[in-house]
Amino acid sequence: MDTHELFAKTAELLRSARHVVIFTGAGISAESGIPTFRDKTNGLWSIYEAEKLANRAAFQTDPALVWGWYAWRRSIVRQAQPNKAHQAIAQISDRLPRVTVITQNVDDLLERAGCKNVIRLHGDINSAHCFTCGHRHSGKLAENPSPADTRLEPPQCSRCKGPVRPGVVFFGEALPAEDLKTAESAALDCDVLLSIGTSGVVYPAARLPHLASQEGAWTVHINTEPFRKAAERTLLGSASHWLPKLSHSLT
Ligand code: OAD
Repeated sequence: MDTHELFAKTAELLRSARHVVIFTGAGISAESGIPTFRDKTNGLWSIYEAEKLANRAAFQTDPALVWGWYAWRRSIVRQAQPNKAHQAIAQISDRLPRVTVITQNVDDLLERAGCKNVIRLHGDINSAHCFTCGHRHSGKLAENPSPADTRLEPPQCSRCKGPVRPGVVFFGEALPAEDLKTAESAALDCDVLLSIGTSGVVYPAARLPHLASQEGAWTVHINTEPFRKAAERTLLGSASHWLPKLSHSLT
């Protein structure tokens, strides 16, 4: 199937779908200026070492390094604006009877574009809680617009005085169980799943497109890189190119 046919078939199936899942990764926010993780030239993991920054042991060893790095990422997110792809997802959700939006991203650009009830599998960079007792931190969260290696001591928990950590899922931590269950149920139930801007290598989130395909759903990746297996359908190009076209096809 060539690109034109793949787009046309996807648009047709969206129009008649009972339940659509839209699953997003870092690529959707790349055009808003938020770096992805694995892109070779400017992905976060090409510059920083994941194991020193995004896991529990790293936070225990050097909380100021980890908190400072997330404060830098938080300031990038705050300055970013939703792009046409985020806006198109909000439109598609309004135009179809049932759409479940699931994201691996910790930014809030889908919500700022108008998406409601987004299932967040990897947490929220604008929230924080105590590393020791889990108590939610309600104070204002620090931002760090200066270079990423600026260290910043995390605040203390108001309940137990433990260090406050970012409200994101670190490598090796479990995903929020209820959200994962809801996401998996949606993938198993949908007729169409759009997987947008994700490399599909971080599990268990990466299982969602496979679950949908196994149950017979029409699964399509939208990605700037043609790295998928031949059997996986891919609309090659940016999210901000394809999603507005899909949204427009529903009018
Ligand atoms: P990755 O950085 O692994 O992948 C980003 C994907 O987006 C790549 O496949 C790019 O080719 C694609 N891409 C880049 N720009 C794009 C654009 N404009 N339009 C469409 N596609 C584009 O990011 P994720 O797959 O989201 O975990 O990474 C998964 C998880 O790994 C993240 O949620 C994060 C990280 O560790 C946590 O924060 C827990």
